[in-house]
Amino acid sequence: MDLQAFAIIVLSWVVLVRAADPDQCVCEDKMNTCVVRDGSPGVNGLPGRDGFPGPKGERGEQGLRGIQGPPGKVGPPGQKGDQGPTGQTGSPGKCDDSELRVLKTQMQDLHTQLHALREEVTKHVKVLRLPNGIRVGEKVFHTSGLRGAYETAEAKCVQAGGVLASPRNADENRALLEIRKSHNENIILGINDIQTEGTFRYPGGETIGFTNWSKNEPNDAGGEDCVEMLENGLWNDFPCNGEKLIVCEY
Ligand SMILES: *[C@@H]1O[C@H](CO)[C@@H](O)[C@H](O)[C@H]1NC(C)=O
Repeated sequence: MDLQAFAIIVLSWVVLVRAADPDQCVCEDKMNTCVVRDGSPGVNGLPGRDGFPGPKGERGEQGLRGIQGPPGKVGPPGQKGDQGPTGQTGSPGKCDDSELRVLKTQMQDLHTQLHALREEVTKHVKVLRLPNGIRVGEKVFHTSGLRGAYETAEAKCVQAGGVLASPRNADENRALLEIRKSHNENIILGINDIQTEGTFRYPGGETIGFTNWSKNEPNDAGGEDCVEMLENGLWNDFPCNGEKLIVCEY
């Protein structure tokens, strides 16, 4: 055992003996603490303060591309360019069959719609032009209250853009009868057999479908080629030079 080791042992012993001295363990009431020999380890203290910041790190990788910004202002117009070369005379553009079929269908649809629209407009125009006319279906009957023989009567209606009243069904016949009643005069119809005896036609030349002859009519008594509506709505043939109430249809 060398001298140094011996010295350490002696020193340790002195420290231990002094620590074991009862006078050294004093309960200090003031501090309310007690130093206990050979006690169990204390609880860990609170964490220390943050250290100093570390050195600056290396530069990171490039970030993702951002979203596109709003468009900028329009720049000033550029200089006018040189004139281009003259083009070739081309052939008209060609459509394929399916495109043509679609176009054709669309054209037909348009045509149908246009036709319906025109009919509708015409109908309203008729009513507007003839405020005191009687509308029945697509037709409007109108009278100015004038009387005339067949030729005069027909000419007046054509001049006004219509034809002489020619009822083609019971509804039209009833509407015409209203005018017959309100004017209390027989009405000359557009129906006649001037062209062929016994074959009655409408103003357009078509042979008649609907009829409403009075009993035993038409009898062509003494050459009667024109037709009138009587007070009960029934028809009678009469000589075309006889003057009756003129009613036109539009
Ligand atoms: C003939 O006309 C009258 C009056 O409009 C009507 O009551 C009658 O039903 C008509 N006859 C026919 C066959 O339509």
